[in-house]
Amino acid sequence: MDDLVSLCKRRGFIFQSGEIYGGMQGMYDYGPLGVELKNNLKQAWWNAMVYENDNIEGLDAAILTNPTILKYSGHEDTFTDPMVDCKSCNQRFRLDQVPEHCKKEDLTEPRQFNLMFKTNVGPIEDGSSFGYLRPETAQSIFTNFKNVVDSSSKSLPFGIAQIGKAFRNEITPRNFIFRVREFEQMELEFFVEPGSDEDWHKKWVQKRLDWWEDQGIPMKSIELYDVPNDELAHYSKGTIDVMYKFPHGLEELEGIANRTDFDLGSHTKNQNELNISANVVENKSSNTRLAIQNIETKEWVVPYVIEPSAGVDRGVLAIMNEAYNVETLGEGKERTVLKLMPHLSPVKAAVIPLKKNNEELVKIASDLKSRLQKLNLGRIILENTGNIGKGYRRHDEIGTPLCITIDFDSIEENTATLRDRDTMNQERMEIDKIPEYLIKVVNGL
Ligand code: GAP
Repeated sequence: MDDLVSLCKRRGFIFQSGEIYGGMQGMYDYGPLGVELKNNLKQAWWNAMVYENDNIEGLDAAILTNPTILKYSGHEDTFTDPMVDCKSCNQRFRLDQVPEHCKKEDLTEPRQFNLMFKTNVGPIEDGSSFGYLRPETAQSIFTNFKNVVDSSSKSLPFGIAQIGKAFRNEITPRNFIFRVREFEQMELEFFVEPGSDEDWHKKWVQKRLDWWEDQGIPMKSIELYDVPNDELAHYSKGTIDVMYKFPHGLEELEGIANRTDFDLGSHTKNQNELNISANVVENKSSNTRLAIQNIETKEWVVPYVIEPSAGVDRGVLAIMNEAYNVETLGEGKERTVLKLMPHLSPVKAAVIPLKKNNEELVKIASDLKSRLQKLNLGRIILENTGNIGKGYRRHDEIGTPLCITIDFDSIEENTATLRDRDTMNQERMEIDKIPEYLIKVVNGL
């Protein structure tokens, strides 16, 4: 973990937030390379969910959330962690995370602590008008259920996908970006006919494992955890956690829950007229029926929901951990190389002129950079430092799959040297063939 944290800072992936004022616990900022990696990961998820499935639609809803939503969702009452205070070191911990140096007799009785951040909405600060920063992106999917169904004519099964920030006032944030107070989620709510939910649950577990493998996480680093009943969230009938071997231990990367008809059943009006199986509290505030009419029987059905919910930040950490390699090169030399899947790499190619002050070389390199940039594959960099060895080292360390060197033969022959990040093999290629080649490299073709 220390090596990763140090690489992240040195190369501009991730910084402690507000570091110049001593930082703030549980908050991190993504730097120039981190934002590219994170965006690429989110785009890969969006492609796999929304673009590859005609029965899944996207959503981008507000973060500030009406408290009534979080009252009926159960979060106001149950989104809590037990905490204890240590009278010896004067610190507060989550009950299951008390460090060994605190003695049992110094701990207070556990108290429930709600993890939601509350904030004033509007100009009056007396607490009469407030909202929550959403603790999960899911709730706005449920409250927009009818809007999406009506505007996109969906019938079961279908899904709504959303990527966005979520906030939790974690008692003990820790392990770099693993447990933070502000993070991003990639959540799909997949609505199905009641009775077909268990089959869909299994299908989504498999689909999600396949997707993580495509992002460079091998299955040997993953274990599935079938969450026992006494650990399930209040809305879940069954949850499979995708556990990853993080540098600090085996922990949750993604949860795939069968939320039954709990959420739509909790937020709908006319609950008594609907056949809701989950145990929901009476809703006197909703003005909308959240159900779907069966075309043949004309019966109203409250769909069940399968929810794959992944953390973007935990995804970034797992992917970087897998990609991070230190290789011995012989003669006591070694190189650090980030073997990211090329579609995730923050920089897709670096174009390096052999000499930085040679106008002809720099012009060829800069024309090639513009040409490659227009392919829309992600960031291409013109690395005009005049030091090829240093350029290779930097780009190995940040995971750039291809370095393209422009030398004097490039002027005569219109060719360049391509260096592969993983094998370090070099080959000569016509400059006009490089765009097509790069498309293949980035898309893993
Ligand atoms: N809507 C369901 C839900 O929010 P969750 O298991 O509480 O379920 C889903 O969260 C995912 O969000 C987790 O698997 C994890 O990847 C990520 N996550 C949750 N809390 C987090 C935190 N404090 N810091 C970073 N990621 C977090």
